Amino acid sequence: MSIVDEAVEVLRAGGLVGMPTETVYGLAGDASNDAAVRRIFAVKGRPADHPLIVHLADVESITDWAASVPPAALVLVAACWPGPLTVLVPAADRVSRLVTGGRNTVGLRIPAHPVALELLERFGGGVAAPSANRFGHVSPTTAQHVLDDLGTDVDVVLDGGPCPVGVESTIVDCTTPVPQILRPGGIPNEHIAALLGGELHQPSGPSRAPGMLASHYAPRARVILAESTAEAAALLAEHTDACVVDGTADLPMYAQQLYALLRDADAAGASTVIAVMPPAAGLGHAIRDRLHKAAASHP
Ligand code: TXA
Ligand code: MG
Repeated sequence: MSIVDEAVEVLRAGGLVGMPTETVYGLAGDASNDAAVRRIFAVKGRPADHPLIVHLADVESITDWAASVPPAALVLVAACWPGPLTVLVPAADRVSRLVTGGRNTVGLRIPAHPVALELLERFGGGVAAPSANRFGHVSPTTAQHVLDDLGTDVDVVLDGGPCPVGVESTIVDCTTPVPQILRPGGIPNEHIAALLGGELHQPSGPSRAPGMLASHYAPRARVILAESTAEAAALLAEHTDACVVDGTADLPMYAQQLYALLRDADAAGASTVIAVMPPAAGLGHAIRDRLHKAAASHP
């Protein structure tokens, strides 16, 4: 039996699978099985009102989960799936309110990772998967990160290598008259705006999906933000034992490595990380959002 066969069996039996995606690793369970969904919340230590994203194998299965598909969602999924985009749409009645955190909307996405797609296709149903970290911690971008965080609380971890995007999906709420970005992510805000012809509410403050608390994505080390490489050098003179994280020269690589760099700083016993913020454009929106939240945990 291959490891993917084993993972499909685990999902069918209501167990949990560490699933690689292009963004981060997910803690996957059968979205139609309330016991499996409850276990996801228990293992993560996540409050019940923070909804889960349902992962699908193909666009046709949207109608199994959505009561209706707003035109903006159709435009976005046609352009971006499989890929790092989650659309919020009105939830079909059959969708468990455990998955939606009691809401009438559901988040849907098709991930662009061959291992995730194989798992989803062979399983055949919707797979609920939050990032496979304990609540509030840094998201995992390797199979080892999942094991480090969750150990034996996850039944099987599929190793799909390091996640190529490295930050979570962009979440777009398509249930409001003007769609809005709730969380910047792997698809830049500018791209979403262009696809929607400018019909988009782009929040300027922190991301607003439930569970996107001010403090989140946090390593143990205290994170201090610098707006430039020069400012980081000045801060390093004050905090001589700090470790500097600066990927501003190459934003796709910065996004891809960000969570591993924060985990490495913890593993090295660093008490302070000085992180350089990229400009607020392209992938910079998501990186800035995650760094702001990482920094908010030790003000
Ligand atoms: O890239 C990703 O999106 C990863 C991979 C595994 O797919 N998943 C992920 O899931 O980041 P999670 O649970 O860590 O973050 C999902 C966010 C949460 O802040 C949640 O509150 C929000 O999406 N969300 C999900 N469904 C929602 C809904 N119906 N209404 C509002 N927010 C929702
Ligand atoms: Mg998460």
